[in-house]
Amino acid sequence: MELNILTVCYLLAAITFIVGLKMLSNPASARNGNLVAATGMTIAIGATIFLYQYRTGGTDENPEYSRLHNYGWIFGAIAIGAIIGTLSAKKVKMTAMPEMVSLFNGMGGACAALISVVEFDHLAFSVVPGSHEIIYPSSMIGHVLIIVLGLIIGSVSFAGSIIAWGKLNGKIKDFAFKGQHIFNLLLLGIIIGLAVYLTGWMPANGKLIFYIIFALSLLYGVFFVFPIGGADMPVVISLLNSFTGVAAACGGFLYENKVMLTGGILVGAAGTLLTILMCKAMNRSLANVLIGSFGSGGSAATGTKKEQGNYKEISLSDTAVLMAYSSRVYIVPGYGLAVAQAQHACHELEKLLEAKGVEVKYAIHPVAGRMPGHMNVLLAEADVPYEKLLEMEQANDEFSNTDVVLVLGANDVVNPAAKTDPASPIYGMPILDVELAKNVIVNKRSMKPGYAGIENDLFFQPKTSMLFGDAKKVLQELVTEIKAL
Ligand code: TAP
Repeated sequence: MELNILTVCYLLAAITFIVGLKMLSNPASARNGNLVAATGMTIAIGATIFLYQYRTGGTDENPEYSRLHNYGWIFGAIAIGAIIGTLSAKKVKMTAMPEMVSLFNGMGGACAALISVVEFDHLAFSVVPGSHEIIYPSSMIGHVLIIVLGLIIGSVSFAGSIIAWGKLNGKIKDFAFKGQHIFNLLLLGIIIGLAVYLTGWMPANGKLIFYIIFALSLLYGVFFVFPIGGADMPVVISLLNSFTGVAAACGGFLYENKVMLTGGILVGAAGTLLTILMCKAMNRSLANVLIGSFGSGGSAATGTKKEQGNYKEISLSDTAVLMAYSSRVYIVPGYGLAVAQAQHACHELEKLLEAKGVEVKYAIHPVAGRMPGHMNVLLAEADVPYEKLLEMEQANDEFSNTDVVLVLGANDVVNPAAKTDPASPIYGMPILDVELAKNVIVNKRSMKPGYAGIENDLFFQPKTSMLFGDAKKVLQELVTEIKAL
């Protein structure tokens, strides 16, 4: 009976994951979607702790089962994890969210890898009690394969996510050496070769091989993400996310735990779809991502150095007049808007202009900011109506009929080098063609480059004017100026 209640709990949890995921696809329902899925996860964890039974012996006719019993350890770990998770989530700044997501993703990978380590140990000791050698019957090949797969994918995801975390917060710089692509491929080849040997041949020194695979997978995770530079991180982040899902699904297989399997598959599938979308947005191929070979080779922050000429500045009052007397204004939000936490001021400006009869829309680049959907979340926080957000393709069709484009803390996503400079690390990435508009006003604090570390031709074009200053302060002052008109 209890087993049935457990199955019902798992089914309920699996449904909440699917419904929650669906609700996440719309900013209006995303918050509740998160709550729905979290409730499901709580049910799944609670049911596993109190209702799950595993076989301890007996005969097939009369099996003996036992419940989980290490409650002190289980609840101790849950309490520590919950306290750290809650405090860091409450404390984290919106701009540091991408790093935190990367770190949490890495923790998921580490869990999956640790499950494999523990289960491999169980396997060795349960087959030959007290022995350090592993000898297991061929019927266990499937079991060992899943353990090794969970180990490899989980370790790559953990090590890669930690490097991605360091890169996103600027603590780790891009690093590549000559022949790194070959080195990466070789490393991957050795890992796969050892995994096949361990699973298929079951050698007596299997434990040693297992730990060598563990170490090499961690190394691969590091070298896989290290060279990925410039603007290519979004693809890698979503790929690592899908790795963690697949690694968790391996754990689900191992424990025959349906909810872990469903959860892992959902994360794996969602991450894979996101990777494909990100690849499309960056115009990169997935094959290149898998061997960690793009945006690398030391070219990341260079591109072709050109004599840029002069840029011109515009004053706040001129900007206010230009915008207030336009019929259509497009706003391009970028990472700087999130840094400045200027989303509310931006919405105020939009409402003010609309009240004056100006049509205002937002042009959203798929990789603007530092995480997928960053700008959508940011603007939703300020209650900007979702219909006002245009996707890149739609916006590009509209720019030629636009009087003013206001670029707010965005840089790489409006850099024409992506179309014109084959030596640029962002070459090939589709961008927002803001230069098609009649006037372009760029707000940022200085002439410093954005994430990809390259200069931006747009700032020197005749139609472009620079409006320097912190986005929040500039927007608040613009609102005051326009109100006074
Ligand atoms: P960026 O190219 O990073 O440019 C942001 C600009 O904002 C900077 O040039 C900076 O110039 C300005 N800024 C910073 N603080 C500001 C403030 N307080 N007020 C006004 N401006 C401020 O941003 P983007 O155009 O959004 O492009 C995103 C980049 O990140 C792409 O290269 C993308 O590939 C990469 N990336 C994206 C993701 C995802 S999934 N979205 C993940 C990882 C990496 P100043 O310093 O001069 O102010």
